[in-house]
Amino acid sequence: MDRIRIVGGRPLEGVIPIGGAKNAALPLMIASLLTRETVTLHNVPRLSDVRSLMRILGNHGVDAAISGKRLGQAEDAGDTITLSARDIVDTTAPYELVSKMRASFWVVAPLLARMGEARVSLPGGCAIGTRPVDLLIMALEKLGAEIEIEGGYVVAKTKNGLRGGEIVFPKVTVGGTHTALMAATLADGTTVIDNAAQEPEVTDLADCLIKMGARITGAGTSRIVVEGVSRLGGAHHTVLPDRIETGTYAMAAAMTGGDVLLQGARADLLQSAFDVLARVGVEISENRDGVRIRRNGGGIAPVDVTTEPFPGFPTDLQAQFMALMTRADGTSHIRETIFENRFMHVQELARLGARIRLDGDTAVVEGARALKGAPVMATDLRASVSLVIGGLAAEGETMVNRVYHLDRGFEALEKKLVRCGAEIERISGER
Ligand code: EPZ
Repeated sequence: MDRIRIVGGRPLEGVIPIGGAKNAALPLMIASLLTRETVTLHNVPRLSDVRSLMRILGNHGVDAAISGKRLGQAEDAGDTITLSARDIVDTTAPYELVSKMRASFWVVAPLLARMGEARVSLPGGCAIGTRPVDLLIMALEKLGAEIEIEGGYVVAKTKNGLRGGEIVFPKVTVGGTHTALMAATLADGTTVIDNAAQEPEVTDLADCLIKMGARITGAGTSRIVVEGVSRLGGAHHTVLPDRIETGTYAMAAAMTGGDVLLQGARADLLQSAFDVLARVGVEISENRDGVRIRRNGGGIAPVDVTTEPFPGFPTDLQAQFMALMTRADGTSHIRETIFENRFMHVQELARLGARIRLDGDTAVVEGARALKGAPVMATDLRASVSLVIGGLAAEGETMVNRVYHLDRGFEALEKKLVRCGAEIERISGER
């Protein structure tokens, strides 16, 4: 298995290109199951999750192809992927595939909406929590699906197609909202989704569905209304920039005391995190090319943060922010309200010398300690990258193990950091 070696202590300085959002690309790819026509996605990040989903969709009969590079295209430009679900050959998503990537469970919605049936393995828990799918099932039932759990599979059927309905989510769920949105586009009549997730990735999916012929209003608010249509067509869509990648590099620059331009980033996609960084003492400015992050000389102020659904502070930046707070001039409190077990990085940051105490859903971080390099290992994507950030600021050598987590969500991580002066390299291991 590959490892990443970092020698810390250098400020990041330069330009970091921000790729397309993983968490938008995945539902957009799944939406291609809703139509016989071709959906073309631009700015798709080169990530192992994208490759895995291409294989999963292939199993349902989707022809997926990545276009070659175009003359004059920037080196860091994302991929263009064409997806054609002309004939769906299989409505089963097996355990072997769904257990590798939770988001693939969402295929249940387009398969059911278009084919009237779907058999999709329950995804199971993962390192950050139990992560049930009860609300996704509830949403499909509200649209008239008959659902049973058989042998670890969700078996969903409709007799005469889905019907519009009222879905009120008792808790904000991104996957639930994606599922409801995709299913409702082909349902007969009007669907109202209340307490919908307002994440930019939901809006991006809705924008693409609208290009495909769906009739959707209110995406990006807590109430989405969908008028069902009888069929959807193809579309071209550009995936929005990755706000979590943006926030991650912003924290890395803040932690190392650097000055970076996050090229192609959009500040409006993570205003809450930037507000927090401004309170920490980081200078943030937006221009035509992206967002510039600077912390030259000044200290890091401790700031308390609570994770919340969008537009609140994202859970996907909690680990990275915790790494930053280990260097703050005082104590900060970081409360995780989205997932019950998303503190796996605490033990590993402690290996770098951080002093963090867990008190229920809150991590109490005692800052101002110098970090020292160490071998570390993490159990999920965002936790892994928090260790990279820690390593960049730590004295001496940090070795990050289980790099495959990083490859699920960060394209060309070492390359982007090396270009900004970091001493970081990948060490290939046996497979
Ligand atoms: C999405 O996961 C993201 N994944 C996650 O990013 C992100 O952390 C999460 O949203 C929250 O922002 C993708 O977009 C692929 P949820 P999702 O449904 O949709 C509970 C990353 O690192 N819940 O919004 O699975 C759930 O347990 C990943 O890129 C139920 O109780 O998250 C959680 O507590 C990790 N029942 C809360 O809702 C359900 O049926 C929010 O989860 C569904 C969810």
